[in-house]
Amino acid sequence: MWLPLALVLLAADALAVKRHDFKTCEQSGFCKRGRALAARAKAASSTWKSPYSVDASSVAISAQKSSFTASVVSSLYPEIKFELEVRAHDDGTFRVRMDEVDGLRKRYDETAKWALIREPTLSDAISWKQTKKEIKATNPKSGVEFRVQFAPLRIALSRNGKEEVVLNGNGLLHMEHFRLKDEPSPEQPPVENQEGEEQVVMEPPVKPNAWFEGDQPPQWEESFGGQTDTKPKGPESLSLDISFPGHGHLYGLPEHATRMDLPTTTGENAKYKDPYRLYNLDVFEYEADSEMALYGAVPLVHAHSTHSTVGVFNAIGSETWVDVDHPTSDSTETHWISESGIMDVFFLPGPTPDDVFMQYARLTGTPALPRHFALAYHQCRWNYISSTDVREVQARFDQDDIPFDVLWLDIAYAPNHKYFIWDEKTFPDPVDMFNDVAAFGRKMVVIIDPHLKKDTTYPVYKSASEKGLLVKPASGSGEYDGWCWPGSSAWVDYFNPASWDWWQGLFKIEGNNGDFHWRQSTTDVFIWNDMNEPSVFNGPEITMPKTNIHHGGWEHRDVHNINGMLFQNATAQAVMHRTDPPQRPFVLSRAFFPGSQRLGAIWTGDNLGTWEHMAIGIPMVLSNGIAGMTFSGADVGGFFGNPDPEMLTRWYQVGAFAPFFRAHAHIDTKRREPYLLDEPFKSIIRDVIRLRYSLLPVWYTAFRQASVSGIPVLRPQYTVFPHDPKGFSLDEQYYIGSSGLLVKPVTAPGIAETEIYLAEAQPYYNYFTAKIYRGKRSGTNVTVPATLYQVPLLIRGGSIIPTRERPRRSSALMARDPFTLRIALDASEQAEGELYLDDGNSYEYEKGHLVWRKFTASKVAKGPLKITSEDMAALQGGKNVVDGVDVVPFGSQAPNAFRDAVQGVRVENVLVYGLKSRPTKVSVGGAEIEWEFTEGAAAKSSSEGTATILRIRDPAVKIVNDWSIEVAF
Ligand code: GLC
Repeated sequence: MWLPLALVLLAADALAVKRHDFKTCEQSGFCKRGRALAARAKAASSTWKSPYSVDASSVAISAQKSSFTASVVSSLYPEIKFELEVRAHDDGTFRVRMDEVDGLRKRYDETAKWALIREPTLSDAISWKQTKKEIKATNPKSGVEFRVQFAPLRIALSRNGKEEVVLNGNGLLHMEHFRLKDEPSPEQPPVENQEGEEQVVMEPPVKPNAWFEGDQPPQWEESFGGQTDTKPKGPESLSLDISFPGHGHLYGLPEHATRMDLPTTTGENAKYKDPYRLYNLDVFEYEADSEMALYGAVPLVHAHSTHSTVGVFNAIGSETWVDVDHPTSDSTETHWISESGIMDVFFLPGPTPDDVFMQYARLTGTPALPRHFALAYHQCRWNYISSTDVREVQARFDQDDIPFDVLWLDIAYAPNHKYFIWDEKTFPDPVDMFNDVAAFGRKMVVIIDPHLKKDTTYPVYKSASEKGLLVKPASGSGEYDGWCWPGSSAWVDYFNPASWDWWQGLFKIEGNNGDFHWRQSTTDVFIWNDMNEPSVFNGPEITMPKTNIHHGGWEHRDVHNINGMLFQNATAQAVMHRTDPPQRPFVLSRAFFPGSQRLGAIWTGDNLGTWEHMAIGIPMVLSNGIAGMTFSGADVGGFFGNPDPEMLTRWYQVGAFAPFFRAHAHIDTKRREPYLLDEPFKSIIRDVIRLRYSLLPVWYTAFRQASVSGIPVLRPQYTVFPHDPKGFSLDEQYYIGSSGLLVKPVTAPGIAETEIYLAEAQPYYNYFTAKIYRGKRSGTNVTVPATLYQVPLLIRGGSIIPTRERPRRSSALMARDPFTLRIALDASEQAEGELYLDDGNSYEYEKGHLVWRKFTASKVAKGPLKITSEDMAALQGGKNVVDGVDVVPFGSQAPNAFRDAVQGVRVENVLVYGLKSRPTKVSVGGAEIEWEFTEGAAAKSSSEGTATILRIRDPAVKIVNDWSIEVAF
């Protein structure tokens, strides 16, 4: 966000978040009430019991037998009725919904509509069995049991007789019913104990509100930072406790600048004071170690242990705080406090991390397969100030032979921040500029923010205003007015379906739709949607007032965290439908919510150019990936500040191993494009960008896998070795897709070597030197060189890595380049790998226009080593199955224009690491071909040495064909 220049300069030495701009739990009425409830429950410990119970006589099992409904009542408010609904889905997940029945008002119940890709299919294998005390069912496929106990209400998912997820086990469930202003507050409830039952539930305190020191938490009106939330609907919060017995590690819940294995926020030795806050906010100069809210929110957690992984997705779009505790080292308790909305909780039974990824992806969608260029290097800065500047930056990259694919325009192109409009003085020729950049196969990304300058001469605002598409203030009529870059602004209400077509219309390049549309654009232009939390400079906590009104009369309070996703959705649809047939869009968003993974990339916002921020960016990106947002990255170089050359160089090494790789910098920073650096930094950065380009086949294949299964592109250690507890907290090293590449970028100054943890008794090879590191079954740390020019990058024995190694200006220019295969043999001289290719732009791959190969290297004792390439589709009987998920069927014989287009592409190099003996002959189809063999260097210690390398030059095989190379001994 914005800060006057003088202030920025002043702050340069002491960058720090203004905590007082943002609420603590204590300053948020509903959070304070929720935590107070937890404190009382804890104090009453063994006698505390939830007041909520199911009326056993009300249970109604559906005809299909996979779901049931039941009435729930709280003994505190017996006149208020709630309905519980439990559904069993065919993939083994369960869904629990609860809402107030015939309340004074309606709670927001549409979050799932936005988050889910479709309504999950109900199971036909489940049948619920009811007794007096409970109702339960076992999924015959997974063996998972789901049980709802009636009094008190308690819901548990069990496996092998052991509970793994429990809802309301601690009795913190509390749905504040709608009430009139003079009704007693939930803090002074009328206690009506159930007959004969002793309860210590929310008893009236000795003195009113005695457990609050200081003021009673506000329910009807709440002021913060000089702004008042009038809360016209009164208190309506929802509190839930969810425990994970037997699971000592908790992941997910982005976006927070914290470790992947989430530190505790409550209980003994809690690391943070406040619960993790999920409330999309523009947090200026955020801290590198904090539970504070950031730009995006995914209310999803994975709980992990050596025996299983389970997940919970809480589909809630209002502000939510989550306390995390580990009462013992092998258990986790969470307490979720949300401001409004119904209860709609999904239980993901796992049992492996990959299963939980797939279960969540089946609910909310897999990450979209990106445009191929989007995985290459992006050059951004606030601002490139003119089309001359753009052309110069491009020329300087080319002079120094540094590849890049995308050049970005920040807000300066638009006069008075009227997006879509070009500043004619500085950008007199936008279309020519785009075409000049596109001449090298490159693209441009232009920023379009959600605030519209309130100026009737601005056609975008005028049209939205005339069509009544803008968010309304609390009164429910007129246009909400807030401040952002352009000054007085209005915001389109993307909850209003009428806004979608209108927004799409703006992006049409050709024709005449009778309204303003973006003629001065091309199909090589893509979009950056920033400030969509939304950021409102004069709003409460720098965002929109919760009392604003959206389509359907819903308060902003109910939908705040969903809001930014709908903006990105509208833009992605618009970019996709600029052409007929549609093309894959690229839209970067800052705010996100469950489902955002279907739309494009996100980044971690305005980080600082410090080592701490560089380091925390890695777990942040891993956590985003765990929560579905795999296409994510941090600003390379850090947004604020001027990183020294060492820091900048290291930051490029971090960025080159993030799914989204973009350098960006604040307007007041010095220019720092890689060509401006002195040697050796410039060359080191050039090399690492080239390394990224050479590995694009690996990245694209990993994205393909993610787009089908939902398993993230960056795979944290615990997901690859789920039974090895030594890896459960490792969040500095990670694998890329299923490729077998293991990286641990350096994030501290003055480093010459680093330790990498190996979890298995297999050789790992240094990507650059073929040095061998031998892992142990019990796990071991190995020391890997990591001076400034060395990226600690290993290949797991048993992997085949396809690369393209010819340096080019852009990735588009590599489309016909030959491949190198690096074969890293495992201890028994076997390896395999995958390669996925398509045109990188269209949706033709959905019809089977793609190349998808499986490479295998296999040696039988004393026999030859056979290196083969096979068609993955043929291998799967014409099916297109990735990670067990059946995608669009296609056959190897089906028309495949893409395969035809790349049929000439060769494999130019095959490198085999780790053969145990010297070959005598290498042949393809009986014909001998050229090879050379380098003996391995003797090991210095039993765990180190250099691998033998067999190099096969130009084996004359094509990437699209089936072939076999035979290495004889
Ligand atoms: C916000 C964005 C930043 C951008 C700036 C100007 O601070 O996070 O990336 O450069 O706005 O648009």
